[in-house]
Amino acid sequence: MVRNIANKVIIITGASSGIGRETALLLAREGARLVLVARRDRLLQELPADLRLPLDLTRREDVQQMIADTRGKFGRIDVLINNAGFGFFGTVESTPPQVVKEIFALNFEAPFTAIQLVIPLMREQKSGQIINISSVAGKRGLPLSGVYSATKFALDGLTQALRLELKDSGIDVCLINPAGTQTEFFEQVRRGDVAGKFRPMGHIQPASAVAEAIVRCIRKPRIEVYPYRVSRIVAWANAVAPSLVDRMMIPFFHDRIRAKTGP
Ligand SMILES: NC(=O)c1ccc[n+]([C@@H]2O[C@H](COP(=O)([O-])OP(=O)(O)OC[C@H]3O[C@@H](n4cnc5c(N)ncnc54)[C@H](OP(=O)(O)O)[C@@H]3O)[C@@H](O)[C@H]2O)c1
Repeated sequence: MVRNIANKVIIITGASSGIGRETALLLAREGARLVLVARRDRLLQELPADLRLPLDLTRREDVQQMIADTRGKFGRIDVLINNAGFGFFGTVESTPPQVVKEIFALNFEAPFTAIQLVIPLMREQKSGQIINISSVAGKRGLPLSGVYSATKFALDGLTQALRLELKDSGIDVCLINPAGTQTEFFEQVRRGDVAGKFRPMGHIQPASAVAEAIVRCIRKPRIEVYPYRVSRIVAWANAVAPSLVDRMMIPFFHDRIRAKTGP
């Protein structure tokens, strides 16, 4: 059955730019009641919303406030879109412990906490949807993106477990795996032992294509969505024959591997 989006209470984290921003614009047109969350309030103010929460989701108390304020204002939460995230380029051997802490805090712990806090309410409602924005990098590790990939693999594992735990609860759990997407992501990415810039590999999709896939997933929930369909083949091939995918990837990642400054 195709669901109506009008009047649904939808939280979007990381709504100030990129995929989150485009998703907010599409959902506003559908008449959703939007709760937009990010640190840059100035950018949130440019978007149509029912509630704007300038919060730093690496802080547990800010995640708690996001859920409490939404519940306080609307009395319900229909969809939680865990989208906020950042990347890190650097070798595994040189990734600083502080980066590991900070990237897991935003890309994994924030969704984890938000999910824990929203489930009791969605259980009471006997309905709801949790959408986690992962990545193709959550299906296949990429050189110089080890810790970023690890956060997305963690989110994938969590999502799979949750899906089974919430079976028959009326709560849908969905994972979105974008390929390279045209957003601020590559400007904001933190850098370790890499020199210069290198372009993301392969097909780059517009943020609007990912946003449209998210909206379709709200209308008709799916377990896993690949907004760029070809990347599903990469995920599938890697599950079946990772050594073959290693061999196929090495030529594509020549520039990236050469960009490292270490030994
Ligand atoms: N772009 C890609 O190629 C790509 C590919 C696959 C998956 N993804 C995933 O898609 C998601 C969205 O990324 P994007 O590409 O749209 O990148 P983006 O344009 O850089 O957006 C990231 C969003 O996260 C927010 N954010 C960052 N740190 C935050 C914090 N501490 N607290 C609250 N919000 C924070 C940012 O807002 P503020 O700075 O205002 O806080 C921004 O709204 C991420 O999870 C990313 O891993 C991206």
